[in-house]
Amino acid sequence: MMNFKSKGLVLPLAVAGALALTVGAVATATAAGTGNAANGKKIFESKCAVCHKTDASGGINLGDTTSADLQSPGLEDMYHNNDKLIERAILKGIDEEGDQLDSVMPRWGDAGLTKAQADNIIAFLHTVKTTK
Ligand code: HEC
Repeated sequence: MMNFKSKGLVLPLAVAGALALTVGAVATATAAGTGNAANGKKIFESKCAVCHKTDASGGINLGDTTSADLQSPGLEDMYHNNDKLIERAILKGIDEEGDQLDSVMPRWGDAGLTKAQADNIIAFLHTVKTTK
């Protein structure tokens, strides 16, 4: 096995992070749809549920905006069933059209979330079916 000791900021280490985070699985940090839903659920509950609710249904009033409903299949349809676009929304705060999301939605890439973690969250979100 490889050993990733360095904790720098540079790009290749995002891949290292993906491998370190995904127990047993060979995670490709670039390929969407390969996330670990169980891990994603944990991250979602700790970082996202406060605004999007534990069931990802959103709808919480946050000043001038409302948190988005992230349940399936609504989010998937809106983002053209393209996990890469959902990943971009999470990490960079850019919507499916390329426009900025409201600034209340954190830019999680800036906040240290890795692509692999975002992919895990997306895998989890695919399991959360709409309740409406
Ligand atoms: C501080 C509150 C807050 C937190 C925490 C938060 N979000 Fe959001 N999020 C929002 C708001 C508000 C929007 C709607 C932005 C808009 O409509 O422009 C949003 C939008 C989104 C969207 C785009 C949905 C769409 O309809 O285009 C995604 C995807 C998303 N959030 C994922 C996440 C994930 C994953 C996390 C945790 C890592 C997270 N959010 C944490 C407030 C938050």
